[in-house]
Amino acid sequence: MVCAMTTQAQVPIPRTAVVPAAGMGTRFLPATKTVPKELLPVVDTPGIELVAAEAAEAGGQRLIIVTSEGKDGVVAHFVQDLILEGKLEARGKHVMLEKVRRAPGLLKVESVVQSEPLGLGHAVGCVEDKLDDDEDAIAVLLPDDLVLPTGVLETMSKVRAKRGGSVLCAIEVKPEEVSAYGVFDVEVVPDAANPNVLKVLGMVEKPKAEDAPSLYAAAGRYVLDRKIFDALRRVKKGVGGEIQLTDAIALLIEEGHPVHVVVHRGSRHDLGNPGGYLKAAVDFALERDDYGPELRRWLVERLGLSER
Ligand code: UTP
Repeated sequence: MVCAMTTQAQVPIPRTAVVPAAGMGTRFLPATKTVPKELLPVVDTPGIELVAAEAAEAGGQRLIIVTSEGKDGVVAHFVQDLILEGKLEARGKHVMLEKVRRAPGLLKVESVVQSEPLGLGHAVGCVEDKLDDDEDAIAVLLPDDLVLPTGVLETMSKVRAKRGGSVLCAIEVKPEEVSAYGVFDVEVVPDAANPNVLKVLGMVEKPKAEDAPSLYAAAGRYVLDRKIFDALRRVKKGVGGEIQLTDAIALLIEEGHPVHVVVHRGSRHDLGNPGGYLKAAVDFALERDDYGPELRRWLVERLGLSER
């Protein structure tokens, strides 16, 4: 008798992963006058390649980058450069060759242009026409946010498969940090096997610590039901005249659509501001065999610490 091996069923993430990258990156001026912030390297790899790799590893099949005029380099990063590859090959630079081949080989990349920076919600709304009729959800990854270790999108997709609707990602922050984030109002799901799955009742943008409904802050990963597009069309412009993704999610909650969060218990880096970007760069560099040991030695000396 031939016995079939039982493996735990994998729930695929939505086949389309969306990366909104049309923002102005004002916190990174003057660098972002000419260099899109999504291309700033974390050690040597642009942030957008790191999130594209996360989407590919989770089973995403195509990446739609929402870009803006003048940021063509973001999409170009995913196009094969045969001339560069030829030169590296001829010079025997095989490690570098592998590195430049990685981004174009990750997954199919398409782009859509957001003509004006009208907010994250508006950026997400720009991809609707690109979806096939049978796509009932999308994954959204903000390229500013590194959520580590990777894998949270798979958990979020599993939660959607079980509970329907949309699933967001949260990280637990300290009370003194909460006012910098979008914060979830949540309740426990009685039958949840995973204590990190919570039902979302609402969301508050950047609350004072004393008004925060929880310490669970939004991290830039979303599995959104296709209904989000209809909700985005119906929300009014919010803060700064922008269409906010959180307002559309709030509308879905109000109308009774299930929205849950998965609390991610690993680490998270915010590449959207110079301070967070530097921490990410140091964190990644310390892990590298080529730069880590010397960086550690220098940091110890620079900070006047003694090596243990
Ligand atoms: P942010 O507000 O963090 O990015 O948006 P930003 O607008 O580029 O940054 P600052 O505040 O000016 O420094 C989160 C994500 O949403 C995208 C951004 O590119 C970023 O990845 N976004 C934002 C858009 O694609 N379109 C927009 O209109 C706004």
